[in-house]
Amino acid sequence: MSAVADAIVVALAARLRGRLRVPGDKSVSHRALILATLAAGESRIAGAGDGADVRSTAGIMRRLGAHVERLGDAPGGATVDYRVISPGSDGLHESVGVLDCGNSGTSLRLIAGVLAGLPFRSVLDGDASLRRRPVARIIEPLRSMGAALHARENDSLPPLTVVGRTPLRAIDVTTPVPSAQVKSAILLAGLRAEGRTTVREAVATRDHTERMLRARGVPVTREDGAAGVSWSLEGGQAVQAVDERVPGDISAAAFWLVAGAIHPDAELTVEAVGVNPTRRAIVDLLRSMGADLDERPIPSEGPGTRPTDDGDGEPVADITVRSSALRAIELGPHDVAAAIDEIPILCLAATQARGTTTIHGAGELRHKESDRIAGIAAGLSALGASIEVDGDDLHITGPTALHGGETDSLDDHRLAMTFAVAGLVAGGATVVGRPSSAAISYPGFFSDLEGVRA
Ligand code: S3P
Repeated sequence: MSAVADAIVVALAARLRGRLRVPGDKSVSHRALILATLAAGESRIAGAGDGADVRSTAGIMRRLGAHVERLGDAPGGATVDYRVISPGSDGLHESVGVLDCGNSGTSLRLIAGVLAGLPFRSVLDGDASLRRRPVARIIEPLRSMGAALHARENDSLPPLTVVGRTPLRAIDVTTPVPSAQVKSAILLAGLRAEGRTTVREAVATRDHTERMLRARGVPVTREDGAAGVSWSLEGGQAVQAVDERVPGDISAAAFWLVAGAIHPDAELTVEAVGVNPTRRAIVDLLRSMGADLDERPIPSEGPGTRPTDDGDGEPVADITVRSSALRAIELGPHDVAAAIDEIPILCLAATQARGTTTIHGAGELRHKESDRIAGIAAGLSALGASIEVDGDDLHITGPTALHGGETDSLDDHRLAMTFAVAGLVAGGATVVGRPSSAAISYPGFFSDLEGVRA
């Protein structure tokens, strides 16, 4: 690997071996910081992800009045421990300045839900990418709960102003798109509402907010029906301060699982990865493609983690991947929702699978940190893949021998890491443009990429 102006060149790897610890789960880390701020007292968070997105949430919690202290970083920058001391939701205050979400859509949407129930004015803003992320999907439900929200371009884009109100009105609402961010924003607002708030969704999206609220003394019920899943909670309940151990991020582990599966001489183990049923779709999709994956539950690593799923806390496992002969699969919109952040790296796996992999209904990918459909198609095509975009569907035919070429991450962390992993199997030099975006979720990614070549 060598660096040229704002680009990294990744060379073909002869073999891949190693054991890795990926950053703490980004989704769980955001929620742990937010819930620690809503709880009065002291909470400790062990093993949080230390990417720029989680730091944005930590910064905003400080501005709202919590004491958020970094206790020490793990070597390699993968994780950090935090101590949070907060007056609790009733003691939070208006920020003097704008609340800067940086690149983080999760900070923007979840914190808007919190602010909706706090009786002051806030402005949420971020970088150029964040200012292209849709916010109407949270403005509508939070307004119907009684908060006032306004945004740019006819209430569609950040900056977002929230004038909160206490108490809010409870609602029963169906999310317009399957989105854990929207669901979580409504449930967090529901904590400050009079009555029972219910969120219905066609597909069960990641349920970390629900599990973590239960662990903090707020019962959240789940009901499964023909039309999907509904989640409800009673407003007016206090969130308790607890300690939490954050599991490894399965969305970060996915890069190594695919690297190991597509490389002809590979054996990689990712340790202590969260395998929550609402997050593990990438493991099951790769298995259905024929990937040689071995998953071993591990004993609890600390408060909040579990060896197996009991509907509470987060189940954790070590996962080993070996070189595999992959075959094409067909994914529908439910699979896209379940593996929303892993679709870019799954597209790389599909380039090495026999047959045509079709991904139907991937439109939500256009609203992530970049237009991921356009970005992945451009980057993988530049490396010699056969990838066709048809509206919101993708068709990828393999296996194709990838060659080197020039790719552009579009400043999107998941694209940067996908193209870098492609470089491990592509003949010739793979140029990854704007690679530093990897630090949004995985600051040590490029050093781990060098480490697995051993
Ligand atoms: C997240 C939910 C997903 C995901 C994002 C993290 C979360 O977004 O893409 O990276 O932590 O709730 P959507 O809920 O908007 O799909």
